[in-house]
This record gives sequence, structure tokens and C-alpha cells, in this order.
Amino acid sequence: MDIKERFEQHGQGHVFQYWDSLDEKERAELLEQTSEIDVDELDKLIGTLSESEAANPGINYDALEPAPYERMPADVASDARWQEAKRAGEAALRAGRVAAFTVAGGQGTRLGFDGPKGTFPITPIRNNTLFQVFAEKILAARRKYSCELPWYIMTSDINGDATTAFFEENDYFGLGSDSVSFFRQGRMPAVGFDGKIILESNGRIAMSPDGHGGSLRALDRSGALSEMESKGIDILSYFQVDNPLVQAIDPYFIGFHDQAGSSMSSKMLPKAYEKEKLGQFCMLGDQMQVVEYSDMPDELTALRDDSGQLKFLAGSIAVHIVSVGFVRKLTDKASSLSLPFHKATKKIPFLNASGETEKPAEPNGVKFEMFVFDALPFAENPIVVETTRLGDFSPVKNAEGVDSPETSQADQQRLFAQWLANEGVEVERDTDGVPVRKLEISPLFGYSAESFAEAWSGRGGSVDLSKELFLE
Ligand code: UTP
Repeated sequence: MDIKERFEQHGQGHVFQYWDSLDEKERAELLEQTSEIDVDELDKLIGTLSESEAANPGINYDALEPAPYERMPADVASDARWQEAKRAGEAALRAGRVAAFTVAGGQGTRLGFDGPKGTFPITPIRNNTLFQVFAEKILAARRKYSCELPWYIMTSDINGDATTAFFEENDYFGLGSDSVSFFRQGRMPAVGFDGKIILESNGRIAMSPDGHGGSLRALDRSGALSEMESKGIDILSYFQVDNPLVQAIDPYFIGFHDQAGSSMSSKMLPKAYEKEKLGQFCMLGDQMQVVEYSDMPDELTALRDDSGQLKFLAGSIAVHIVSVGFVRKLTDKASSLSLPFHKATKKIPFLNASGETEKPAEPNGVKFEMFVFDALPFAENPIVVETTRLGDFSPVKNAEGVDSPETSQADQQRLFAQWLANEGVEVERDTDGVPVRKLEISPLFGYSAESFAEAWSGRGGSVDLSKELFLE
């Protein structure tokens, strides 16, 4: 059946209503867009439009329990269990079983930066971009473990070309072009509240990236998954492009995952306060799942144990280890496992009656996205490992205020000051713990407290403050 007919049969024939007035390029683009849309899948999603956005019908809140997690001991260095995990992680790295995986396909609307988010300058002194920060962390791990450690980066049609051009301009930050791969995630059409696909111009459907959960099927569709399998890579270190503090390659985390034979592992932070906006690691029977903060009933978030600690304490920071075999299983055509779509009501630019693209003042439709943590209920032996806030998490989401470049730069400097203090070097700090003189440490010198300490003692404390450590 011809694609136009198929859309008509599904009540979406209007997307072709301007076909006769389109030029060849516009027609080709519209055909490309429509070929990406699974109208049967869309029908099902449209069927859920009348359901409320907040309520999550899949959750039986009465049965919800907090997920167990691997607690971080006060002294990791002398904890046998953690040291054993580290050895396992390091062995996996040395054996070339690990790849880094960054999801960078988002629109970054809240930051309002013109360009891929990874090209945003984020370090306090050198103004290195997010991509460079991760590149240097990966390079440092490659040197330490003498492994290939390839880097896979998921982009989207919105930022794919600009991202690859940026890496080329920067000579892949010394990683080598053959060990950095890019692939694009899928797109989903936006629909109006009437269930009709929204046109943003007469030849274009309003489409947007299908969420970070789309990364799993994009890994498969792009051929990246097969490439990993052929290289003997079975462990993916997954992180988001907006979090410069993340330990991109953490041997402890990799080791816990591998020792447990887990298909998907996650890092957790104890929530700083009851209503902190972090997804919550929970168990429903024997299935792990992340419940979004907006879906957690107040009665549950307020619960405390006898010691006064929050019962639902474990917040998700979107840092995972995913096994390649698990992605294969989830994306296998014969498998019935699939991630659900979440819907978000948005203001979606649309083609108005005068034939112009109009930005609506009020929400006029719905976008559909998949979330990667929705793979957890399908995972075998999913484990959650505790981390520290400065050690792993300070995202850049907003232009100002919380989770902004300002807060992230302050956190980077707090962390660097902490590493120096561990070695007995005190820099002057303000009442918020931020160094008074700006401070930056290159990931090539140290990318974690431990690697910094090793590098520091390796130099006998004599470090050139202008080459690897920067003080302004
Ligand atoms: P966010 O949920 O913060 O979304 O993404 P965003 O698109 O970057 O920003 P806003 O909401 O428009 O302001 C978290 C991570 O998931 C990636 C982002 O690139 C970021 O690393 N992501 C998000 C994708 O890769 N694809 C998507 O479709 C959505």
C-alpha cells in the first residue's frame, strides 16, 4: 500500500494535503518523515491522549517499596567489597569490554543555547566544552587501562550535523576519529489534542527526538550494536551530555555490574530533601523501576524510617551501565519487550489558517518520548550503586538558577578543591565552599578523587599549576 493511503486509512491523510504545491526537495523530506512514522504505534498512543498525564496507571502505589542499593562505605579504599568490585571493573576495561555511550540528542530548550548542548563551554577557567570534558575523561581512562574504549554518541536530526562538524573541527580531542562514532536517534510526530499529526509548515510534520529511551533502538538500527558485538564489547557506560561531573568511566560501578551479572545497573544519590526532583528507584514485586518525581504521591515521599531517614531515598541521576546483550534482547524483532512512551503537553509551532508557522501561546499538543530507565523492569539482576553528589552529578539544564552553568561551575570547583584538600593543599574558599580564586583541574591529570590522588603522589606533590591544574 502506498504511504499516502496508509496515512489516510489511519485518519492522518491531512499531512499530504499540500503535496501538489511542494517542490521536489520538500516532497522528499515529507516522504522521509512519514516513512519514520509507525502509524499503528501512533494509533495506540493517540488512544491514550484522554488519560491524565500525571497519573501513572501502571503503578500499584500500595505495593511500592524502595529499591535496595549498594551503600558507599565511609572509606572505600579499605572496603574489601568495593575494592573487589574495582578490580573486576578494571579487568573488564583492560579486556576491552567497555564502551562509553553518551546520549546527546535532546533539544536543550531550557538552556536556550544555540547549538548542540555538548558544544556548550562549561569548565570554569579554560571554558572547555562538555564534549571536551568527556573526551578527556575517556582519553585518561584509555591511557590508564591501555584499552580502545570507543565512544558512541547519540545525536538527533536537530544536532547531528553540527555535532560531527564540531568533533572534526577539534580533531576529535585527540581520541582519533575511528574510535568515536555518532548515530542518530529516531523521531516522533507531535499530535494535537484531537489526535491529528501537527504540521509545522505545509511540507513538514512537527517531529522531535523520541527521548533518551530511543537510544536503545537507535543503537540497534544504526548498526552500532552489531559493531560492539563484533568487537567483543559487552558493557556500555551510559551518561547524559549535560553532566560534566559524571565519572564517565567508573571501575567500581562497572565491576559491581559485571559481578552481579546485571543487565542494567544504575547510580543513586540519597535525595537531599523530600521533594528533590529526582526519579525514585523502587521495587514493584521483583521488578525494579524508576518512578518519576511527579508521579510519586506526597504520602510516600514523606515516609521516614525509625532513624528519621527518608524511606524512598534513592534518587536517579541518569547514570547507568547497560549490557550489550540486554539491548539486543530488548530490540530483537521477535521480542515483545518495548519501552512505553510518555506524553508531554507542549507548545508546538504549527501551520495556521493563513499558511504561516505560528508559535502558540498555550500548549496545543503532545509530544511522545521514551525514557531509558523504563528498561529497568525488563532487566535481570538490576543493581543500584550509591555515589556522591560532587563525585558524579551537577547537570546543566537551565540558563540560570538551579542546575545551571553557574551551579555546575561552582560544583566543579568545590570538587577540585576537595581533591586538593585530600592531599593537604588548602585553597581559600567562600562560605559556600567555592574556591575564592577560580580553580580547574584537567581530567587528563585527574578525573576522580582516586585518579587525582594517584597522579598527585606520582609527582611527589610538585605539579605545574599552569599546565594541568589551573588557578586564576
Ligand atoms: P533532558 O531530559 O534534560 O532534555 O535530556 P533536553 O532535550 O536535553 O533539554 P530540555 O528538556 O529541552 O531543556 C537529558 C539527556 O537526554 C538526552 C539529552 O541530550 C540529555 O543528555 N536526550 C533527551 C536525548 O538524547 N534524546 C532525547 O530525545 C531527549
